[in-house]
Amino acid sequence: MGAMPPTSESTRVQYRIRPLEPADLEHLWTMEWDPLPRQISTFYLLCTIAHPEFCSVAIDGQHKIVGVLLATPSQNGQWIYLNHLRIEPHLRGQGVGGAMVRHLESQCRAAGIGRIWLLTSSDVEPFYLPLGYARDDSFMPPVTRRLMKEHRAAALILSKEL
Ligand SMILES: CC(C)(COP(=O)(O)OP(=O)(O)OC[C@H]1O[C@@H](n2cnc3c(N)ncnc32)[C@H](O)[C@@H]1OP(=O)(O)O)[C@@H](O)C(=O)NCCC(=O)NCCS
Repeated sequence: MGAMPPTSESTRVQYRIRPLEPADLEHLWTMEWDPLPRQISTFYLLCTIAHPEFCSVAIDGQHKIVGVLLATPSQNGQWIYLNHLRIEPHLRGQGVGGAMVRHLESQCRAAGIGRIWLLTSSDVEPFYLPLGYARDDSFMPPVTRRLMKEHRAAALILSKEL
């Protein structure tokens, strides 16, 4: 897939969002993943290698990666899991993260995917609420819901119907 047209929504920062490319995996391997623990990052990297089609990066004017969004579609094509979103600290609060989420939503709509879901913390929840995400795990089969609650007790499940 070719580079996408500029999607910068802010006059304060110049960036564009493009699909993840194989060469970007090196960056994913070496970047900071906080607040995720390293063992989860390894798992998400494997998901990314298997399903890179909904993953994207934001790059600045010097072609440096300043944002990463990793997402994995479900096997039935009905929903997508937003694995990780990370904007470089010096660019936070300037609209890049929100633009990357909206970019994923556009991709999902075009692919007929009806829902995005993610795990987050109460600290980051206020970032997702204005984007239309809410605490809603009702789309999950009961057994999945139970397992998620048991194993990720501290994490919030947010989702948005597209
Ligand atoms: C969360 C994160 C991706 C947001 O990206 P960003 O580019 O800073 O977000 P945006 O500039 O598009 O939006 C920021 C808005 O969300 C709000 N917000 C609320 N809580 C926030 C939080 N914990 N972190 C970031 N933004 C938050 C900001 O106040 C801002 O609102 P405003 O536009 O009304 O001023 C970024 O801060 C980040 O990479 N954090 C570290 C990794 C992380 O926690 N990722 C989320 C994992 S689920």
